[in-house]
Order: sequence, then C-alpha cells, then structure tokens
Amino acid sequence: MELIFCPIDDQRVKRENFDCGVGELNEYLQKYARQNHKKGIAKTVVAIPETGNGEVVGYYSIAVGEIKREFLPENYRRGLPRYPVPAMLVVKLAVDKTMQGRGIGEELLLESLRKSLRLSSEVGIFAVKVDAKNESAKTFYLKYGFIPLENDPLSLFIPIASIAKMLE
Ligand SMILES: CC(C)(COP(=O)(O)OP(=O)(O)OC[C@H]1O[C@@H](n2cnc3c(N)ncnc32)[C@H](O)[C@@H]1OP(=O)(O)O)[C@@H](O)C(=O)NCCC(=O)NCCS
Repeated sequence: MELIFCPIDDQRVKRENFDCGVGELNEYLQKYARQNHKKGIAKTVVAIPETGNGEVVGYYSIAVGEIKREFLPENYRRGLPRYPVPAMLVVKLAVDKTMQGRGIGEELLLESLRKSLRLSSEVGIFAVKVDAKNESAKTFYLKYGFIPLENDPLSLFIPIASIAKMLE
C-alpha cells in the first residue's frame, strides 16, 4: 500500500477511528496532537493511504529535548561536555492495530530519523531519544540500533552519527 506522509493539520486527515491498542497514544492523536502541532509543542506527521478517505494508519510526533550526560552509558560520555546534550525526542509513534506488522512502524521511525539527521546539519543534535511504552516497543527500537539509557530501562537513544551510518 502506498502511503502519504503529511502534517496532522492537512485537510485530508481523519483521526477519529485510530486505534493502536494503547489508549494514551490514541487519545494523544485524537485530542492533543493537532493543538500541540500548532503551538510548537511537538510536530506530528501522519501516514494516510494514497487512495482512501484520509484515515490515519500511523503517526509520529517529534520535539526537541536533551539527555542528561550521566544517563548515557559510560563509553558515550567520554569527551562530552558536563552539561546535558541536545537530542531530538520521538515522543510518540504508533500504528493502527489493523495495519501493524506491515512495515509502517519502520517507515515512520526511519522518516523521523531522516528528519533528525537533516536537521542536525543546522542545529546541534547529539542523538535521538525515545521512551518506549513497554518491553515490546523497546524490542522494536532495539532492532534499529537504539541503546538503553542508564536512568530508565525503557528510555533509549541512538547517536546521530549512528543514524548517519545506518541511512547512508
Ligand atoms: C510498535 C509499533 C509502532 C510497530 O509498528 P509496526 O508497523 O507494527 O512495525 P513494523 O511492521 O514496521 O515492524 C518493523 C520490524 O519491527 C518488528 N516489530 C514490530 N513490532 C514489534 C514489537 N512490538 N516487538 C518486537 N519487534 C517488533 C517487526 O517484526 C519488524 O521486524 P522484521 O522486519 O525483522 O520482521 C506498533 O506495533 C504499535 O503502534 N504498537 C502500539 C503502540 C506502541 O507501543 N508504540 C510504541 C511507542 S513507545
């Protein structure tokens, strides 16, 4: 299925029926994603099928943030300043239950990583960080080279340098 990636405020987007199986992520898309997008809190990109009525099949939201130096594994801390390092945060990522397992989560994640890499040529970005919702989501991120942070087993990061290598 060919997908279009577009901002959540695109006129075509219908999000009422989205259900990824995690209430909080459904509610975010339906109630908060659009206003947060407008206010500059987090930008949301949705995937809609090229042919269809605009129903969202998946989405991700990103914002800027930081990672405390002491939360990085020891071997990543070396040579870094003593203050927090800048990071892109993938704050939400979800795929509708009916469409899971077809590669859409991967497409969304890679799209968010490509965007982070692009931005990193103009803005200081050391890594991309995600907070996995559960162990299963964590396994998904580990597959793409994310590394656990030391403060929370469900918090993960991937250095921009690794993203560049992966996408080259
Ligand atoms: C996690 C999620 C985004 C994955 O999306 P998806 O479209 O189902 O994943 P894909 O089909 O793109 O899978 C890509 C790869 O990850 C693997 N994968 C997908 N979900 C996985 C999971 N929960 N655990 C382990 N591996 C997983 C797939 O097997 C596939 O690997 P393969 O190519 O080697 O077969 C989706 O299942 C989802 O929305 N879950 C509910 C919400 C959630 O937990 N979101 C994460 C936010 S923290």
